[in-house]
Amino acid sequence: MPILRRALLGLGATATLGAGAAFVIRRRDAAAFDALAASLWRVPDAAAVPLLRELVRCATLAPNSHNTQPWRFVAEGDRLRVLPDPARRTPVVDPDDHHLFASLGCAVETAIQAAPALGLRAEAEVARDGGTVLHLAAAPPRQSAMATAIARRRSTRAPFDPAPLDAADLARLAAAGGEDPRVGLVLVTEPARRAALAELVLAGNSVQMRDTAFVAELASWIRFSHGEALARRDGLFAGASGNPVLPAPVGRRFFPHVFTLASETERMARQLAGSAGFAVFAAARDDPAHWLAAGRAAQRLCLAATTLGLSTAWVNQPVEVPALRPVLSAWLGLGERKPDLVLRFGRGPALPPSLRRPVEEVLVERSA
Ligand SMILES: Cc1cc2nc3c(=O)[nH]c(=O)nc-3n(C[C@H](O)[C@H](O)[C@H](O)COP(=O)(O)O)c2cc1C
Repeated sequence: MPILRRALLGLGATATLGAGAAFVIRRRDAAAFDALAASLWRVPDAAAVPLLRELVRCATLAPNSHNTQPWRFVAEGDRLRVLPDPARRTPVVDPDDHHLFASLGCAVETAIQAAPALGLRAEAEVARDGGTVLHLAAAPPRQSAMATAIARRRSTRAPFDPAPLDAADLARLAAAGGEDPRVGLVLVTEPARRAALAELVLAGNSVQMRDTAFVAELASWIRFSHGEALARRDGLFAGASGNPVLPAPVGRRFFPHVFTLASETERMARQLAGSAGFAVFAAARDDPAHWLAAGRAAQRLCLAATTLGLSTAWVNQPVEVPALRPVLSAWLGLGERKPDLVLRFGRGPALPPSLRRPVEEVLVERSA
């Protein structure tokens, strides 16, 4: 463990143990965090009332960039609109809202996969600008492994087992992620190609780590303590990234000292080397509807991976850094297509989950 990170752990612990009250609060917050996480990360429940809110609860368990949860849902009769929330953009890392619409795609796909388990059928109608309506209808209840996986899927920022996957597992990932002909999927599993892609991710990581605006935006979404995570119920909980959970003022003060180019390069390199493979998604066009389709495809792959006992994590650096996107495209031989999303997968450890905001905060119900 890097020296500064170890020192931080000690500092957090000393400060906490030195103040009995703070220690009690920390333990109480950790218990409240675990209880809330358990209540959020449940499989779709067909007995829940009303079902529409249950559907939205499931949709919000989708992966989403920086866990800003950049969505709003508007229910009108049998239609559920899925809209972007402009207040939850991340303008530095995602100036054109590419990841925002991919995140909406993840939520749309999650709702579609959850619907049958709730006795519903959900069909998406997506406009060119990414505006989405889910048309809902009653259907015979049907459980599925994909629906059950919604509650177990995580973005796991840890090294995985790099051992190659079975051909059958890879075929399942390819089928789930490659279902939509508008979204190309390339699986990178051969060791030399994995290493070459890892170099591109690390190159993107270096560019971002040198960008003070990127680091400031990222820091603003980090929730260093259980208490901070509970208060906001969004953002990147430190524990979910395998980092020490610290009193928020301590974490915020020391973040610039531990989150350095050297420490992040080393951490990222270990995670990239600990990957059985990568999945790169590239939609046929570069517009919100296609970014949303790429997000749907990526979430299908994440859920399929979860059903196989595999972990997934996102390594979008070569897509987020504009100069690297064409390099990745050329390396993959994608022609005119631009890569949209990059994931890595493999058998990995369990890390704490991240939280979600209450359904009431994101859902508006209007009479039809
Ligand atoms: C479009 C999109 C882009 C993302 N980019 C990254 C990324 O570059 N690095 C990363 O560590 N996680 C990335 N994530 C993962 C999110 O941070 C994660 O989904 C979020 O924190 C919620 O956590 P969960 O997936 O465990 O529920 C991305 C997710 C989405 C949907």
